[in-house]
Amino acid sequence: MNDGDGTRAAGAQERQFGPLGTALVIIPTYNEAENIKAIVGRVRSAVPEAHVLVADDNSPDGTGKLADELAAADDQVHVLHRKGKEGLGAAYIAGFRWGLEHDYGVLIEMDADGSHQPEELPRLLTALKSADLVLGSRWVPGGRTVNWPKSRQFISRGGSLYSRLALGLSLRDITGGYRAFRRETLEGLGLDQVASQGYCFQVDLARRAVKAGYHVIEVPITFVERELGDSKMSRDILVEALWRVTAWGVGERVAKATGRDRSS
Ligand code: GDD
Ligand code: MN
Repeated sequence: MNDGDGTRAAGAQERQFGPLGTALVIIPTYNEAENIKAIVGRVRSAVPEAHVLVADDNSPDGTGKLADELAAADDQVHVLHRKGKEGLGAAYIAGFRWGLEHDYGVLIEMDADGSHQPEELPRLLTALKSADLVLGSRWVPGGRTVNWPKSRQFISRGGSLYSRLALGLSLRDITGGYRAFRRETLEGLGLDQVASQGYCFQVDLARRAVKAGYHVIEVPITFVERELGDSKMSRDILVEALWRVTAWGVGERVAKATGRDRSS
């Protein structure tokens, strides 16, 4: 499962993978006015052939307007304006739908605050050539965090461990938000049934992908804590994650015991 450079795989099987189409980097934003210009610029330099979609939840700080200005100056930058703050999960689902409708071959999740370094994107895309889904991972050999408070590391490691045990997954970084999907993977995951709103959306998609038999690879990344703006992590987001992961875990055990699938 571990090929030596820290890259780990789950659900591996002998498979032929088709060529990768054009990539769309989806960046969800809520009050990221201080970060949006720099992150879009870094993505455009690191992967010049990729497009960017900013999915903004009507940020009071004017992030959406700044994104519009970037889009007006660059054909490869797009903006999805949403009516209000509905959570990371809802913003990504809207972004994925937009990307699938516009025929992108690869859909990428990336935070706006620089924690996910665009310069590492070529490595994720290389790994996706022989996978259905690539997870940028802080918790495989070679992965790390920079300036991340101990409290957040504890929540992240604890969240991944709890999810791993509750859901029977072998992945190390289940809550991370730096990911590359082939379009076929998203089409096969049933986005209509995803109800997760906050950061547990990440756990939800990872577990659905493994369950559906997709080839999921973890690639080590260096996660750099934001320098500007504030994290949107909250108690409500944690509570949602805890109850949903627990409910999925119980659901899967019941399904195993009764021979029926009631876990989705
Ligand atoms: N559109 C939209 N709507 N964007 C949102 C919302 C929302 O309700 N909530 C957060 N975001 C955006 C932020 O603006 C940022 O671009 C990204 O989502 C991540 O939010 P942060 O608040 O910076 O997350 P974090 O650094 O605390 O959490 C990181 O770790 C989590 C746990 O591992 C991120 O990498 C998360 O993706 C990850 O789940
Ligand atoms: Mn962040």
